[in-house]
Amino acid sequence: MTRAAFGQNFIADAPLTIVACTDNKISRRYGDRGAHLYAIQDVSASIMNMMLVAHELGLGTVWVGAFDEWQVFEILDMPQNLRPVAIIPVGYPAKIPSAPRRVTKSEAVEIR
Ligand SMILES: Cc1cc2nc3c(=O)[nH]c(=O)nc-3n(C[C@H](O)[C@H](O)[C@H](O)COP(=O)(O)O)c2cc1C
Repeated sequence: MTRAAFGQNFIADAPLTIVACTDNKISRRYGDRGAHLYAIQDVSASIMNMMLVAHELGLGTVWVGAFDEWQVFEILDMPQNLRPVAIIPVGYPAKIPSAPRRVTKSEAVEIR
């Protein structure tokens, strides 16, 4: 899995790795927009919720989006209806980093 994710070694250190996928058996129900947009949004929301629950439990996660999806598809021998969207290694963090700088409210929000 590390190789498929362009050498991001920390994936191999994690005791658990979740691969979050879209499922075109479900997403096709809503036509083209469902298959290409809603499906990604659905999975992204579930990833975020998983990461928040993990954090609440004292676990650390990383959202890994940089990977060769065909390699992941092959490694896990996935059925054709699934498309891997993110790899999420889960483990106990070795250290708690300080929060990075955030954009300000005025940088993030545009009111018209
Ligand atoms: C779509 C997406 C893809 C990401 N891909 C990677 C990745 O491949 N490798 C990685 O170390 N972090 C990846 N991250 C994590 C970010 O680098 C960052 O750590 C995370 O979004 C937390 O942001 P923050 O530092 O602003 O809290 C990704 C995040 C997102 C949202």
